[in-house]
Amino acid sequence: MYDMKDTIVGVFDSGVGGLTTVDTIRTEIPGAQIIYHNDHIHCPYGERSKTELLRITSKIVQNLKEQGAEVIVIACNTATTQCIHELRKLFPDLSFIGTEPAIKLACEAKCKNILLMATPGTVKSVRTKEIITTCTKDAKVTLLPCPVLAKLIEDAVVVNGDKVIFQNNDMLQTRLADLLGSLADRDTFDAVVLGCTHYVYIESYIRKYFPQAEMFNGNLGVAKQVARVVNNSL
Ligand code: DGL
Repeated sequence: MYDMKDTIVGVFDSGVGGLTTVDTIRTEIPGAQIIYHNDHIHCPYGERSKTELLRITSKIVQNLKEQGAEVIVIACNTATTQCIHELRKLFPDLSFIGTEPAIKLACEAKCKNILLMATPGTVKSVRTKEIITTCTKDAKVTLLPCPVLAKLIEDAVVVNGDKVIFQNNDMLQTRLADLLGSLADRDTFDAVVLGCTHYVYIESYIRKYFPQAEMFNGNLGVAKQVARVVNNSL
């Protein structure tokens, strides 16, 4: 069994999005030793170049490593899809677990018409295209880049110690309406993949635009993978 005195798990994201992942890890592995790096200052990642992201994320990983982390969770679809390969090469002594758009989960649930909402960086990444090619045999995936959305969510969440409070606001709802209100064939999607950990905070608002669809995110898969890695490293 996992012993909380053992492996330190370092988790990071461009702010509060990854706290949704931490929450799921804590449910899956009660007592997990987690160090969270909240990179609020560089939010949003989704509108940065790959070179810039690699520079930023490698510093964070170095910092988490110096604090004793042996397992690194990239609680960010953008940083995972663009940088995880390079980070693995730069830090061969660490175990990396990434967060990828949960398209596979939607396909396993037999969904056929999938909408992927993600940052511009995730949408244009080679890895996202690979996931779509390998996971979807008879399903169609529509990519919806959502610039600025993660930043608006970041600004709507207040972290106070252990408490994470989301405060809805008009700007955020207007952005959502702009992105989703007139989306073509909106009522035909049977799955919406939240391909950004920040979007988990507004799942209930997104759901209102797709009452017929199932919603997916990668957090549970990540938490289960952390449990496997941590148990194997004992
Ligand atoms: N939460 C992150 C993701 O999953 C990054 C959002 C951003 O900073 O643009 O992609």
